[in-house]
Amino acid sequence: MKKFLVIGNPIEHSLSPKLHNYWIRSNGIDAIYEKQKLDEGELEQVILQIKKKKIDGANVTVPFKKAVIPFLDELTVEAQKTQSVNTLYLKNNNVIGHNTDIIGFETSIEMSEYNVLNKEVLILGAGGVVPSIIFALKKMKASKIKISNRTKEKAKNLKNFFKDIEIIEWGNVPNFDMIINATSLGLKKEDNLNLDFSSVSGNKFFYDVIYNPNETNFLKIGKKLGNKTLNGKLMFVYQALSAFNIWHKQKPDVNEDVIKLLNK
Ligand code: ATR
Repeated sequence: MKKFLVIGNPIEHSLSPKLHNYWIRSNGIDAIYEKQKLDEGELEQVILQIKKKKIDGANVTVPFKKAVIPFLDELTVEAQKTQSVNTLYLKNNNVIGHNTDIIGFETSIEMSEYNVLNKEVLILGAGGVVPSIIFALKKMKASKIKISNRTKEKAKNLKNFFKDIEIIEWGNVPNFDMIINATSLGLKKEDNLNLDFSSVSGNKFFYDVIYNPNETNFLKIGKKLGNKTLNGKLMFVYQALSAFNIWHKQKPDVNEDVIKLLNK
């Protein structure tokens, strides 16, 4: 039986095992997908287990997406450009680090039938997932990417990797076609970004990377103002699908059962 893992800290709330095990079962694959809470010092050990084929693949989540890089043999272009790894696999006895958050984000936008081409996009936040979002938006040919983060220094760091992004002072809301909340704020009950959206007209796209809760205050505000909204559930599903495809060479179904599974 093949063994897969998601590693992170904390890890209790990860829905990856639920989703992967559902797909493993429905595709009749002899495998199991488990979660493991780690300390940073244990990362190397997990990579060794992949190398020795004791583990057949792994997902990496917060806070190790960057920390895992020094232990890997090779990075894909996506992982290299974002310095963010969420999927590990063995190829020719080398442990490869890949980033499927990019394709996850991109597919979620495609599925929602929004066209990013020539759109101005404002990203709130500068945390771990943001380089993947910028990479995907550039691939989809957004005309302008603006970043606003409470701690300006972190937004400035991103500019070292992505030269043409524009930094916006936290608290200001410039023109945008699409706005992405990539802060962790929506995870809390009292999630007020304290941004003034009153001048935003109702034909924008409000996207929140968070999917639990289903609708953050940010999305509620966007909806109330008459905008299109989407949470991060599809991004999560499609990053998992891409990893599944790499490991099992099968493309699982994204049906209503899958979405329901994640609502529980
Ligand atoms: P990391 O930085 O470790 O990758 P993250 O959870 O991916 O963490 O990112 C958290 C993001 O949410 C950051 O952009 C953070 O802003 P800071 O860089 O200023 O910390 C943002 N964030 C969290 N709480 C916030 C709040 N109350 N108001 C505004 N932004 C907040």
